[in-house]
Amino acid sequence: MEQPENCVLVIFGASGHLAEHKLVPALFSLYKRELLGNNLAILGVGRTPLDDASFREKMKRALNTADDTGHSPDAEVLEKFIQKLFYQSLDTKSAADYSKLQEKISSLDVQTQAQGNYLYYLAAPPNMFATIAHNLASQDLHREDNGKGFKRLIVEKPFGYDYDSARHLNEELHTVFNEDQIFRIDHYLGKETVQNLLVFRFGNEIYEPLWNRHHIERVEITAAESQGIEGRGGYYEGTGALRDMFQNHLLHIVGMIGMEPPAVFNADAVRDETLKVFESLRPISQQEVEQYVIRGQYTPATVGGTPVPGYREEEGVTSDSKTETFLAVKFFIDNWRWSGVPFYVRTGKRLPTRVTEAVITFKHTPQQLFRSSNTGEDRECNQLVIRIQPDEGILVRFNMKLPGAEFNMKTVAMDFHYSDLADVYTPEAYERLLLDAMIGDSTLYTRNDAVEACWRFVQPILDAWTNQPDQIKLYGYPAGTWGPREAHGLFDKEGQDWRYPCRNLAENGDFCEL
Ligand code: BG6
Repeated sequence: MEQPENCVLVIFGASGHLAEHKLVPALFSLYKRELLGNNLAILGVGRTPLDDASFREKMKRALNTADDTGHSPDAEVLEKFIQKLFYQSLDTKSAADYSKLQEKISSLDVQTQAQGNYLYYLAAPPNMFATIAHNLASQDLHREDNGKGFKRLIVEKPFGYDYDSARHLNEELHTVFNEDQIFRIDHYLGKETVQNLLVFRFGNEIYEPLWNRHHIERVEITAAESQGIEGRGGYYEGTGALRDMFQNHLLHIVGMIGMEPPAVFNADAVRDETLKVFESLRPISQQEVEQYVIRGQYTPATVGGTPVPGYREEEGVTSDSKTETFLAVKFFIDNWRWSGVPFYVRTGKRLPTRVTEAVITFKHTPQQLFRSSNTGEDRECNQLVIRIQPDEGILVRFNMKLPGAEFNMKTVAMDFHYSDLADVYTPEAYERLLLDAMIGDSTLYTRNDAVEACWRFVQPILDAWTNQPDQIKLYGYPAGTWGPREAHGLFDKEGQDWRYPCRNLAENGDFCEL
C-alpha cells in the first residue's frame, strides 16, 4: 500500500469534538497499522488556550478509552504517537496570529523533514473556511510551485448552506487554492460499504446488465438513526435533515448507484461520472415539493420504556421550530439508464433503529406462471439489499418453489455479511480519507462542480419551505417510529412500500403504527 510522504498536518478546530473523537483516533489507528509516513507532525490549532503538553494529555485521555474492540491501546505505542502531536492557539480571524502559525509550521517542517508538505484540515466553523484559506495565503502557506512540497486543504461539511453560499465558498477558495489542492470531505464516501458499491457493480458481470430501467422497478435508500440530535441543537436548528444528510451523504450514494462505468479508475473519471448523475436529476420545482417531498419532526414518546423528548424540547431548539428531523424524497434521474425509474430516499433521527441501506427492486417477470404463497404482489419481485451499516453486507431476495404438490412460490434470501470475512480489518471512514488526502488521491472527495450540482437540486425544496412555511406541512412523528405516515404516499403503485429494516440485515422490521 502506498505510504504518504512526510508532512505536517494542521487541524483547525483541534479542540473540538470531531478532532477528539474522529480525526486523532483515525490517525492513531493509521499509525498503529504503520500506514503513516515515516515522519508526521500533527499540529492542532484552535481558540482554546492549550500548549503541546495539555493538548497531548487531552488526546491521550480520549485515545485511552477502550476502542471498538474493547481493548485499551498499547501504552508504548500510544506514547510514541502522542509525541507527534503539537498545539498552537490561534484566533482564526486574527491575521497576526498566522505569522506565529507560520513559524510553528516551519519549525515542525525542519523537525520532521516534511520538505514543505502541508495538509490543512478545516474542522473549524464553516463561516471561517474562506478566512482561514486567505490567512494561510497571507503567510505564503498555500503555494506548491517550484518544488515547495504539496499544500492541500481538507474542507469539512457543511460545504455551504445553500446553492449560492456553496458557489461563493468555491470562488473564495479558488482565489487561493487550485481545485486539485482542495479536498471536500464527505465521510460517507470513506465508508467501506459505500466504496463497495463500485466494486459490486463494476467488478461483477452478474448485475450490471440488469442495472437499468428495463429491469429495475425502483431504487430505495434509507439512512435511519435511532438517536436524536445529541446535544447539537445549535447546529441542527439551522440545518435539518435535507442539508445535514440528503444534500451530501445520500446524494453521493445515489451517485454511486446511478453512475455509468468510468473509462478508467481515477479521480477525474469517477467524479465525472457521478457528476453526470447529479446533473441528470430531474429538478423538483417549488410547486412540486408537496408532491415529492415529505418532511417531519419527532414528537415526545416513550421508546423502550424510556421517555424521549420531542425535537422542540431539545436544548438549543425553539418551541415553534420548523426544522425537519425526517425527510423522504421521490425523484427521477433523467438519462438513458434510469428514465422512468423512481428513486425513494429517506432519512431521519429518532427512528426505530440505526441502519443505512440501498434496496434495488427488480421488475416482475413478464408473465406470472406461479402463485406466490406470500401476500402482496411486491413480494414477488427480486430485491437486492446493499447494507451500508450496521451488519454490513448484501442480501438477495428471490423466489423458489415451496416444497409440495403444487407450484407455489416462496420468497427466500441469500445473504453475505462482512463480519464473515475473518481477520479483515475494516477501517473507519476518516482513516481511509485522511490517508487518501496525504497521498493526494481525491477519488473519494467531492469536486466543486458536484457539490454545486447537489445544492442546485435541493435549492427549490429549501426555497419552497422558506416561501410557504405554513402551506407545506411539517408532519409530527412520535420518537421511535418510522416517520410520518405520509411518507408512504410517495409510492404510486398499489402494494408498494418502504422496506422496514432491522439491525440484522436478513430481518424485515414491522412498520410501527403512528
Ligand atoms: C453527520 C451528520 O454528517 O452524519 C449527523 O451531521 C449524522 O447528524 C451523521 O448523525 C451520520 O453519520 P454515520 O456515519 O453515523 O451514519
